[in-house]
Amino acid sequence: MSVIEVENLKYRYPDTTTLVLDDLSFSVEKGECLGIVGENTAGKSTLCYALAGLVPHFYKGAYGGKVTVNGLVVREHEIATIVENIGLVFENPFSQMTGAKQTVYGEVAFGLENMGLPRKNMHTRIEKYLKLLDVYSVKDKNPFDLSGGQMQRVAIASVLAMEPEVLILDEPTSQLDPQGSKDVFKVIEQLTGKGMTIILVEHKMEQIAQYADRVLLLHEGKQIDLDTPEKIFSRLDLKEFGVRPPVVTSIAQALTIRYPDTQLYPVTIQEFKRLEEMK
Ligand SMILES: Nc1ncnc2c1ncn2[C@@H]1O[C@H](COP(=O)(O)OP(=O)(O)O)[C@@H](O)[C@H]1O
Ligand SMILES: [Mg+2]
Repeated sequence: MSVIEVENLKYRYPDTTTLVLDDLSFSVEKGECLGIVGENTAGKSTLCYALAGLVPHFYKGAYGGKVTVNGLVVREHEIATIVENIGLVFENPFSQMTGAKQTVYGEVAFGLENMGLPRKNMHTRIEKYLKLLDVYSVKDKNPFDLSGGQMQRVAIASVLAMEPEVLILDEPTSQLDPQGSKDVFKVIEQLTGKGMTIILVEHKMEQIAQYADRVLLLHEGKQIDLDTPEKIFSRLDLKEFGVRPPVVTSIAQALTIRYPDTQLYPVTIQEFKRLEEMK
């Protein structure tokens, strides 16, 4: 069953002349993790906004085509209804903070209050997600006094606490150090393991290769390709789109270590080793 359906989506920001999203059509199945890759300004964040309803409800401009999330046509429902179905973790965690709350705890409670969740359930949920993202110890701090990495974890916790059907992560570890990034990806791994539908925008191709079932390659707002990580990262013209394959794929290309049946290159170390042993 498709949880997300995008049909001929076109979008241009107000007072601009070029399409930032140029005729995109794809669907995402329940439980799938879809990676989105492309160079800076490819339109990745804008696509996230379009899935979460910020386009066209917050960002106006010219909009064409149709986006359906969990059976709801995004254009026809308010953002408040859409966020209960699809949660977006912004690229910049600073933009995610409401500014309305004095504590991290209150920040995570904010979305739940708006949803009208009973107080009793709220407390359990907030604790669960603060602990999951390892920010329980800063629950009484002001969100704006946190480091970038902590703020990023709080942003993820506040979206997860709403337990949306679909989670969109727009470069969720951009503010984190390697260890923090690893921790967050461990959480993402747990969520994909539990069958959550996830849209993941990420510059680290190793992470895309590890977690994405399929990868959407965007360039100048256009959908260049949508396929398995092996197919996308084996493309010889990837560089033209400002994307580099995972390091292990480049090494495999240099050593011609590939799948004998499809001639594609491996994208993870585990697969690389397996194919190397077979050679
Ligand atoms: N609010 C805005 N108004 C006008 N143009 C915008 C706005 N936000 C982004 N853009 C433009 O849209 C294009 C795509 O941006 P974005 O979706 O942020 O790409 P990415 O996330 O892939 O880097 C860029 O050319 C950017 O300058
Ligand atoms: Mg972006």
